[in-house]
Amino acid sequence: MKKAKLILDKDYVISKVDPRIYASFVEHLGRCVYTGIYEPGHPSSDGEGFRGDVLKLVKDLNVPLIRYPGGNFVSGFRWEDAIGPKENRPKRLDLAWKTTEPNEIGIHEFASWAKKAGADIMYAVNLGTRGPAEAQALVEYANHKGGSAWSDLRIQNGAKDPFDIRLWCLGNEMDGPWQMCHKTAEEYGRVANEAAKMMKWTDETIELVACGSSSSEMPEFGKWEHTVLDECYENVDYVSLHRYYGNPHNDTDDFLASTLDLDNFIRTVASICDAVKGSKHSKKQINLSLDEYNVWYHSNEQDRELHSREPWGTALPLLEDIYNFEDALLVGLILITILKNADRVKIACMAQLVNVIAPIMTRPGGGAWAQTIYWPLQQASLYGRGTSLLPLLSCEKQDTSHFTDVPMVDTAAVLQEDGSLTIFAVNRNLKEAAELECDLRAFGQFRSASHSVLHHDDVKAVNTENDPYQVMPHDVPVSLKDGKIVLPASSWNVIRLSK
Ligand code: AHR
Repeated sequence: MKKAKLILDKDYVISKVDPRIYASFVEHLGRCVYTGIYEPGHPSSDGEGFRGDVLKLVKDLNVPLIRYPGGNFVSGFRWEDAIGPKENRPKRLDLAWKTTEPNEIGIHEFASWAKKAGADIMYAVNLGTRGPAEAQALVEYANHKGGSAWSDLRIQNGAKDPFDIRLWCLGNEMDGPWQMCHKTAEEYGRVANEAAKMMKWTDETIELVACGSSSSEMPEFGKWEHTVLDECYENVDYVSLHRYYGNPHNDTDDFLASTLDLDNFIRTVASICDAVKGSKHSKKQINLSLDEYNVWYHSNEQDRELHSREPWGTALPLLEDIYNFEDALLVGLILITILKNADRVKIACMAQLVNVIAPIMTRPGGGAWAQTIYWPLQQASLYGRGTSLLPLLSCEKQDTSHFTDVPMVDTAAVLQEDGSLTIFAVNRNLKEAAELECDLRAFGQFRSASHSVLHHDDVKAVNTENDPYQVMPHDVPVSLKDGKIVLPASSWNVIRLSK
């Protein structure tokens, strides 16, 4: 058996964990909204057409915040199309995904659904085909109490109380040539700054996220963040990061090492924020919003084929990645990486929530079930709130095709308000278990312990509607005596110690 050693001390603190790192994302894309969260006529649907089976899975996932309504979709979206009586709402071509948007769901319906799901909204405004004026009007519509044209229109449309949306994204992936009205960093920085001013003048309590790079592989990465922040530093609060990983060459060791790239991406963006801060002699710190992350590659081929066969449909099965067990391990490693950077990453959204590269799948008229990646997010959100502690870990390292010195084990630890301690650990080794020796120093005696393991002998195992629990966590016996915990080969582990 391999060996690893972890030292934790309650005085070695990274930061308080912002619960918004357990957020998710709903875009008007594929079947995320239509036949995902919303399917009038489904046996489980409520009076508003929202699927009860999906809502239950979302509530159990414990996501505190949901980014909406895009994504690439938002860069062509006219939010006014999706307010007022449904029968008057126009159908529009969505150029981002080559589909037709029926506009049956808009800000009113989504706010109602999010309330039922127990989540706040992170709303992205369109800074592609539209600009600061429309963004300002939307903030007024959503958050102003009444007595102005936009806020009175909201009241007339049935929402007496403001939606009170506290967090807003200034567009989406504006560095990407695939974006409608893609901009240079200078152009975007200027527009983001002017939109930010007008949005905050309308409601000074809101927080704003400026678009960073769509991925660390973008040619302009680094320069983009620097230029954009140079324009809008004092008027925004966060900069975004987006990152997806895949395993198209079936090199699982290398795939599971991808979080070394994510860690580097996060640290680089934080350094750029601080460099701009320094150059401006500013006292303000910009933090990070990893507002899209996940595994995304399984559905690429299928999507190319579907698009050529059936453009402009509604609720087309796009980006429907079927996740396997190794994908869940990577998501676990991503969550560990976020927790280890909790001092700078304050928001993180698994992209997306239902059907579209999602932890939850549905069949129209049929069932809803949890994919493999559902479980690490659910457990991290339940047990990973409190203070992120610095994990001092020593273990074997190995090289993979693209990474050097990849630790065999990765861990994060969270001290919860009630004094209980959660250790999240992934054993990346596909063949051998690892014995994790925990030196808990000044914590004193814990009275009870539990150890939940997510493991499957086949890293390609998936959950399906007919077999939804192939991959799910199981409790295993744990002893508090010698502080040694066995992490099975290729496993995500949640170890909980309570006073
Ligand atoms: O989440 C799917 C897409 O990925 C989003 O629409 C876009 O922002 C990103 O490229």
